[in-house]
Amino acid sequence: MKFNTSNCGLVSFFLTLFLCFFISTSSNEFFDCISQTTSANSSNIIFTPNNTSYSTILQSTIQNLRFNTTTTPKPLAIIAPLSYSHVQSTVICGVKSGLNIRTRSGGHDYEGLSYTSFDHAPFIVLDLTQLRSVTVDSEAKTAWVESGATLGELSYYVSQKSNLLGFPTGECTSVGVGGQLTGGGYGTMARKYGLSADNVIDALVVDVKGRIMDRDSMGEDLFWAIRGGGGASFGIVLSWKINLVYVPPVVTVFSLSKTLDADATRLVYKWQHVAYNITEDLFINILISPINNTMRVTINSLFLGTAEELMKIVSDEFPELGLQEKDCREMSWIESVVYYSVYLRGQSVDALIERRPWPKDYYKFKSDYVKEPIPEKAFEEIWKWCLEANLILAIEPHGGKMSEIDETATPYPHREGNLYIIQYVMRWDEEGFNATEKRVAATRSVYEKMTPYVSKNPREAYVNFRDLDLGTSCNACSKSYKQSLRWGRKYFKDNFKRLAMVKGNVDPTNFFCNEQSIPPLILPSSY
Ligand code: FDA
Repeated sequence: MKFNTSNCGLVSFFLTLFLCFFISTSSNEFFDCISQTTSANSSNIIFTPNNTSYSTILQSTIQNLRFNTTTTPKPLAIIAPLSYSHVQSTVICGVKSGLNIRTRSGGHDYEGLSYTSFDHAPFIVLDLTQLRSVTVDSEAKTAWVESGATLGELSYYVSQKSNLLGFPTGECTSVGVGGQLTGGGYGTMARKYGLSADNVIDALVVDVKGRIMDRDSMGEDLFWAIRGGGGASFGIVLSWKINLVYVPPVVTVFSLSKTLDADATRLVYKWQHVAYNITEDLFINILISPINNTMRVTINSLFLGTAEELMKIVSDEFPELGLQEKDCREMSWIESVVYYSVYLRGQSVDALIERRPWPKDYYKFKSDYVKEPIPEKAFEEIWKWCLEANLILAIEPHGGKMSEIDETATPYPHREGNLYIIQYVMRWDEEGFNATEKRVAATRSVYEKMTPYVSKNPREAYVNFRDLDLGTSCNACSKSYKQSLRWGRKYFKDNFKRLAMVKGNVDPTNFFCNEQSIPPLILPSSY
């Protein structure tokens, strides 16, 4: 029988019959194996639905309420390792029993792939929250950070060692290091230092055989793949060695809000030409959000230097911004991390280690890259679409270091030629199928209308802004390279083939998999 998506219903039926039998045998085998291999500690690390803390642990880092409903498929168990050997045991027992493992660091996956599964197959969640140490060597300007740490914890502990050291992470401090670095990691210092993944120099990974590999033992292909190839496909990254970067003792931030009128539209239009080209010490992003039947433009900025220096640059190169000295706030880099993590704004830096979750809601996000400035007239139409859909646009500049790095250096291929990335942000707070359908459809509709203005062939997307609309097969864990090309080229362009070949080498049976994981590509030896 030729397999295509129209066979999905039939496949699901037989799969369900088979699973009834499979679940009980494989789960028994898994629990026997994991209890034996983790011995004395097993009650502290294995949580099944019979444990009172199961739900609390499961929900602790679920960020998207869309995947925290009564009908969301739940894991047979959560394993919360306290040591690396527990992670090894989980993999070994998972392979032996054939149970799928979902690895979770910070739980921010936009489509919930770190804690749920959509193909009705039983699965285990491996929750790395307890593995979150950060060890900083300020002399060598490096650090080892475990995947379960949040970006806030990482930044905080680095800054505790020196106010001249920092790390280019994403802007939301509750995101996990594990997911962020496996997918890239874009933030306020990306124009100066690149992505988080561009600054990784070693890592410890548990492979499909349960071995712990470092950069030397895993080899350069796998080391390349884990720095941006998307989490969950190649193994479990326990820990990362990162190069720390210089941050000046004083940085400057500003945040300006304007109601959308002709001037604000012109400002956004001009921003497209400036933000990408301006000194890489300056990061200026734009948030365009519906409010009171109009759109509000908020311009946020981080400058790696003083307010006086910033004022000079802006008055020379971006006078349309109308920035005044009173809008600028000087602070330390770590304070700017708090400032940028909007939900913590105004709090002390200690809030970064409190593991406070980002406010939770229901959401659907999509992403696009823009290579040519969008005409001013077109923006007027775009605002109308967003207003109608009640959709936010978050726009972040590329250029600087992002353009200097070759597009094959890491799996993240969106380098030179990209002016900026757009994120379509749809958030809502009503529960239920109808609300979800309505909001998701509205997001897709704006995305469709944006087609003329964004990258083409492929229409590129950022893997850390995971979007299952881009393609997935009816069963999770598809092994088909051809089927996966549809979404794979959007995230990785030509790097997708290399990722699939690395996968073919390190995990040919596709044990580490989910609805959008890299399929193994095994070419004939004569190829
Ligand atoms: P989570 O634990 O859900 O993991 C994400 C994926 O990685 C899953 O597939 C998971 O299985 C896999 N994975 C996790 N840990 C792993 C490990 N140790 N080894 C192997 N695979 C692993 N991005 C960005 O670049 N810049 C930004 O500013 C932001 N801001 C932001 C704000 C908010 C509110 C959200 C919800 C998300 C972002 N993101 C972001 C996107 C974020 O980078 C992306 O969702 C990350 O994958 C989240 O990593 P977590 O560890 O939190 O997620």
